[in-house]
Amino acid sequence: NDYKYRRLKKQNLIPVKRLPDALVIGVKKCGTRALLEFLRLHPDVRAAGSEVHFFDKFYHKGFEWYRDKMPPTLEGQITMEKTPSYWVTRTAPKRVQAMNPAVKLLAVVRDPVTRAISDYTQSASKSVSLPRFEDLAVVNISWGGSQAVAASWPPIRLGIYLRPFKRWLKRFNRESLLLISGERLVADPAAEMARVQEFLGLKRVITEKHFYFNSSKGFPCLLKSESRSTPHCLGKTKGRSHPHINPSTLETLREFYKPFNEKFYELCGINFGWP
Ligand code: A3P
Repeated sequence: NDYKYRRLKKQNLIPVKRLPDALVIGVKKCGTRALLEFLRLHPDVRAAGSEVHFFDKFYHKGFEWYRDKMPPTLEGQITMEKTPSYWVTRTAPKRVQAMNPAVKLLAVVRDPVTRAISDYTQSASKSVSLPRFEDLAVVNISWGGSQAVAASWPPIRLGIYLRPFKRWLKRFNRESLLLISGERLVADPAAEMARVQEFLGLKRVITEKHFYFNSSKGFPCLLKSESRSTPHCLGKTKGRSHPHINPSTLETLREFYKPFNEKFYELCGINFGWP
C-alpha cells in the first residue's frame, strides 16, 4: 500500500497541499468574494474557502502552517487564497515576496465612494447605534463651521488606492499585479473573468455560460458551481442595499478622491472612469 501511494504520488495522481501561486490581496468591499467564487468555477483553480490572514495576522506561525490551510492540488492546478487586508498591510509585500517572488497578485478596485458606503453598511449591520454615514465621513473642524473629509476614518482611507499600490510596486512588477474593475465584475463578469484567466495562464473555461443576472438581487449569480448544481447567488452579506446618502456629502467625497483617483489611473495605466 505504501508502495502504491508513493508511486501514485510520484506520478502526480495524489493531490498535495502547496503554498499559493496567486493571491487576491484586496481591496475590502470591492468584490473580492465574487472574484474568488467565480475563479473557483475553474477546474484548475483550488482556493482556501475562508480568509487565511497569514501575511497580516499569522505570519509568526510560519509557512508550514500556511501551507496546511491550503486545499490539496495536483500539479498544474493553481492554489489560491484571498485576504483583502493584505492590500493595506505594510509588511505584506515583503513577506509575500519572501514566499514566492513570482506569485501572481490580483486586486479588485471600485469607485472609492461606493466602496466607503459599502464598508460603512457592513459596520452598521453589526452595530445598531452607528452614527449616520454623512456624520462620520465629513466632520466639523472648527467652531466656524468649516468641514473636512474624515480622511483617516478607515472607510474613507481605504479608498485611497494610490499609496498601497505604490508599496506593492516597490516589490513586484506591474505585470505581476492584475487590477480588476469591481464595476465591470458586476456589469460583465464573463469579460472581466476572461482577463483574469489570461493573467493566470488558464484556459478560458469561465464564460457567459456560468452567469445569469438575478434582477431581484441586482447582481450576477451562478448557474452552478462545484458545490451546488442549481442557480445561486453569493450570500446575503454580499450585495446589500445601501442607505440613501445626502448628495452634498457624495459631492464632497468625489472632490476629495478626485486627485488620488487621477494619480492612481496614471500610475496603473487604467482609467477606471469613477465619477
Ligand atoms: P455590497 O454588499 O455593499 O453591495 P467583498 O466581497 O470584497 O467584501 O465585496 C462585497 C461587494 O462585492 C458587494 O458590496 C457587492 O457590491 C460586490 N459584488 C460584486 N459582484 C457581486 C455579486 N455577483 N454578488 C454580490 N455582490 C457582488
